[in-house]
Amino acid sequence: MDNFLQKGSYMDCGMFIQSIMLSAVEHGLATCPQAALGEYPDIVREELSYAEDKLLLCGMALGYEDKSEIVNSYRTPRKELDNMVRYFS
Ligand SMILES: Cc1cc2nc3c(=O)[nH]c(=O)nc-3n(C[C@H](O)[C@H](O)[C@H](O)COP(=O)(O)O)c2cc1C
Repeated sequence: MDNFLQKGSYMDCGMFIQSIMLSAVEHGLATCPQAALGEYPDIVREELSYAEDKLLLCGMALGYEDKSEIVNSYRTPRKELDNMVRYFS
């Protein structure tokens, strides 16, 4: 992301990342987003040579899921929607 952008752009990027993830599934692929890469931007910049005025938010593994690997059968629990959303009327 351009490093001068503000809060709203983080939302844009998050939605864009999710769109890529959903599209990947639609095409028979799997993804694993990794925000941890954003903690090591210098190492990633050295390898990929992206511009100095860019902020690294996230990496993403993209590929074919190996369904025979036990790690890929792990499912995290989901909270009820009411736990995440506050309604105002
Ligand atoms: C934007 C985003 C960034 C993430 N970054 C990391 C990360 O850096 N390291 C990590 O172990 N998991 C990270 N995760 C979590 C995993 O990618 C994944 O969501 C988790 O294994 C649980 O899978 P699930 O979301 O299908 O329940 C991230 C998830 C999201 C949505």
